[in-house]
Amino acid sequence: MTGSPPKPALSPQSLAAQALGWIEPTTRAIVPPVHVASTFLRDDDNQFRSGRVYARADNPGFDQVEALLTALERGAGAYVFASGMAAATACFLALDPGDHVVAPKVMYWSLRNWLAGFATRWGLAVDFVDATSLDAIAAAIRPGRTKLVWIETPANPLWGITDIAGAADIAHRAGARLAVDSTVAAGVFTRPIELGADVVMHAATKYLNGHSDLIAGALVTATRDGYWERIRMIRAQLGGIPGGFEAWLLLRGMRTLFPRVEWSARSAMRLAAALSSDARVLEVLYPGLPGFAGHEVAARQMIGGFGGMLSIRVRGGEPAAVATAARVELWKRATSLGGVESLIEHRASIEGAGTPCPPDLLRLSVGVESADDLLADLVQALPGGA
Ligand SMILES: Cc1ncc(COP(=O)(O)O)c(C=O)c1O
Repeated sequence: MTGSPPKPALSPQSLAAQALGWIEPTTRAIVPPVHVASTFLRDDDNQFRSGRVYARADNPGFDQVEALLTALERGAGAYVFASGMAAATACFLALDPGDHVVAPKVMYWSLRNWLAGFATRWGLAVDFVDATSLDAIAAAIRPGRTKLVWIETPANPLWGITDIAGAADIAHRAGARLAVDSTVAAGVFTRPIELGADVVMHAATKYLNGHSDLIAGALVTATRDGYWERIRMIRAQLGGIPGGFEAWLLLRGMRTLFPRVEWSARSAMRLAAALSSDARVLEVLYPGLPGFAGHEVAARQMIGGFGGMLSIRVRGGEPAAVATAARVELWKRATSLGGVESLIEHRASIEGAGTPCPPDLLRLSVGVESADDLLADLVQALPGGA
């Protein structure tokens, strides 16, 4: 795939809408083809001048989407993966057994379970801390042993905010890296690398693709160093790559990233404000609300919005929350987030034993439907009805 190189002066919206403006050189198509080849022809002098050997490592269908991710996150390179979990776990597997990592107590639950289970058995020492507190992150550092500080901001499902610049400073002073799960900020509302992060991770399944029809992940690096090379090797050796069609779908989804997520964030803000004054709601958790604990830091490090995710705690405890989810008609009761359709989830049920998620909490992923319709549906579903 060739074409005009991206013009750095263009806004991220324009870069995304035109997928960097690349044109397929043979046909002049403005949409790239789907690359499905599993292998590539060797030159007659036994070389691989195309730079591609075998598709577990090299798929031309990754080039454009990885370049777009690099541009949006202002990084030095990107890799797409088969899932968000494949991307995230590569960051830890690129360390050595015996290394120490700091991770949040409240974070995407499956990754937390993997860290507490597989990664710990594999030999990593993991400390889970309150990552909304820089003091707690600093206190967990083991000088000489801590190699990675992992944060997620806003963090599932309470939307706690970590000060990225502060966490980067702590990590770097200890000789460690900072990796940020920026799935909820969607590559639009926060640019962690500009704030000092070394690696940015996305569950591309969510906002980047945006249509609930794909599982994929992505990493973007600030520097092409030895750690990044180990991550490349892990992807190639473990084979955690998306298929050619999935990479194509992801790029197509990313073309509408900005209008989708900006719409969702505006609606989320509106819902958060309206639900805050509903007596049947005990608490609304949303970084855009001025009373939210992490609001000041969020306002400093988020650009143009606070994202499309919020949670509500329903007065009346777990039975009232579950009954509310049962009564919605427009919202879909499903796990996941970041799609064009709004999802509602009783999060404690899916996380299970040991979850820090309160039992009365409903997680809301706001899509691109009318905010009026979404609000009306929730209001009629809350205990007592409209
Ligand atoms: C914040 C966050 N990180 C990582 C993941 C994992 O992504 P995937 O399901 O694509 O493996 C998820 C999935 O829900 C997520 O919400």
